[in-house]
Amino acid sequence: MTLEERLKELEKRNREAELGGGEARIERQHKAGKLTARERIDLLMDKGSFEEIDRFVVHRSDNFDMGSTKIVGDGIVTGFGKIDGRLVYIFAQDFTVFGGSLSEMYAKKVCKIMDMAMKVGAPIIGLNDSGGARIQEGVVSLGGYADIFLRNTLASGVVPQISAIMGPCAGGAVYSPAITDFTLMVKDTSYMFVTGPDVIKTVTHEEVTMEELGGAMTHNSVSGVAHFAMDNDRACLAAIRELLSFMPSNNMEDPPMKQTSDDPYREIPELNTTVPENPNTPYDIRDIIRPVMDDRYFFEVHEHFAKNLVVGFGRLGKKPVGIVANQPAYLAGVLDIQASRKGARFVRFCDAFNIPLITFEDVPGFLPGVNQEHGGIIVHGAKLLFAFSEATVPKITVITRKAYGGAYCVMASKHIRTDFNFAYPTAEIAVMGPEGAVNIVYRKELQKASDPEEKRKDLVNEYKTLFANPYIAAEMGFVDEIIAPSTTRKKLISVLDSLSTKREGLPPKKHSSIPL
Ligand code: HXC
Repeated sequence: MTLEERLKELEKRNREAELGGGEARIERQHKAGKLTARERIDLLMDKGSFEEIDRFVVHRSDNFDMGSTKIVGDGIVTGFGKIDGRLVYIFAQDFTVFGGSLSEMYAKKVCKIMDMAMKVGAPIIGLNDSGGARIQEGVVSLGGYADIFLRNTLASGVVPQISAIMGPCAGGAVYSPAITDFTLMVKDTSYMFVTGPDVIKTVTHEEVTMEELGGAMTHNSVSGVAHFAMDNDRACLAAIRELLSFMPSNNMEDPPMKQTSDDPYREIPELNTTVPENPNTPYDIRDIIRPVMDDRYFFEVHEHFAKNLVVGFGRLGKKPVGIVANQPAYLAGVLDIQASRKGARFVRFCDAFNIPLITFEDVPGFLPGVNQEHGGIIVHGAKLLFAFSEATVPKITVITRKAYGGAYCVMASKHIRTDFNFAYPTAEIAVMGPEGAVNIVYRKELQKASDPEEKRKDLVNEYKTLFANPYIAAEMGFVDEIIAPSTTRKKLISVLDSLSTKREGLPPKKHSSIPL
């Protein structure tokens, strides 16, 4: 055979690999509103940067006549490429080949690129679209999953891991995305569940649709398993690029800076009237976050889940920051089980990847209730407290209004190693709100009073003068400075700059025992 003939042979084989499960199945994929694995990779990566590896791998199974059906690539496309000029490793499950189901050799392909990503310190992106374990391969396939789970776990906190769910994701397969840092789902075409509707019907007699059980909005708004719900494949891939722009390639690097012409000293006069005078009037905390950030841009994460806490990314003076903020516009910004879980996970991600934390605080306390107590708010609330306490990245807090009770301690207070704590003049820092406090402390006086309502009013006013302000906390040094809201941006950028060489550690230990 001449070299020319050999090159032709290579080209033929390459073309075969590129067709995956064949044209009919590709058409079926498109009809279902989904792109193919290769189309997805092309859209995600910088143009022409993708380098595929293991393109000719096939399965080794002879069970159920599988020996006669070998498809090159075996249902997964793996390799590396660039996003915004930065190296990433990727696997994309190919639903057109055996429903994207995972075989022994398929798992080996995934593990190979995960090992490479760890060696060179590059993010791992998984595009999931699969019927789960390849039924014909039995335990070999289960073992393949476990090999991937182990690598997900070891890579956690070393390189960022992002999972996009762009089709079915069932059975134990969901545990790989669950271990990764962020999960994106595509509306109407993606599902995640450990056991599907049919099994549920048999076991618990509950009837539920795929969408209700594990669709994008279910996992974004009810379970909190997913962080983003995107309208289609293209939007999902664009969101992955955006998300990566805020994070470093690994835990030894700082997050990438982004050029901006936004003035770091920009004052924001409208912020002086954003917090309403009446402490019980709600406002949207994002009306404070957005104007403060570079180019007024805030990339919200977990938008549909636990809306009483807002988390996401922005930039201050070109540097990415993670933002955690109580949301007075939803449940008065109270901390509950879901908000605590959401916040804790986000804080730990930022800390693992050297992303400074900015906290905006307006919290009336933890949500009272039997459901909350029996649901374990003690342990879940402790997660957020633990995460903030453990975090050693630069931490800055701005108290915009209420900072009450245990929630004052939890929301990155000075006492848990926050570097700079600011308060607006509208801040109220106390054990509890004036009404509740007066009812408890002055119960007997109120019972004896000739005009209890008048007496209550006087006492509430007295309490407000004493505690519903930031000055006692400032006298104690728990608040470093009381600032005009209009100066928030320049203050944050100034102190963030001063913290750029911050070094803080934890006592030597194998790892902490976070209240999971
Ligand atoms: C082998 C599979 C497969 C699987 C699908 N296919 N899932 N082949 N193993 N797990 C094949 C189908 O036979 C079919 O082949 C092709 O993929 C497309 O599947 P369809 O059913 O035609 O597609 P669709 O109607 O879109 O339905 C997709 C689906 C369904 C919802 C994913 O296929 C399905 O329910 N599959 C089984 C899901 C499941 O229970 N998996 C095991 C989970 S347990 P042909 O040749 O006909 O086109 C698990 C354990 C992991 O994963 C544990 C890890 C710890």
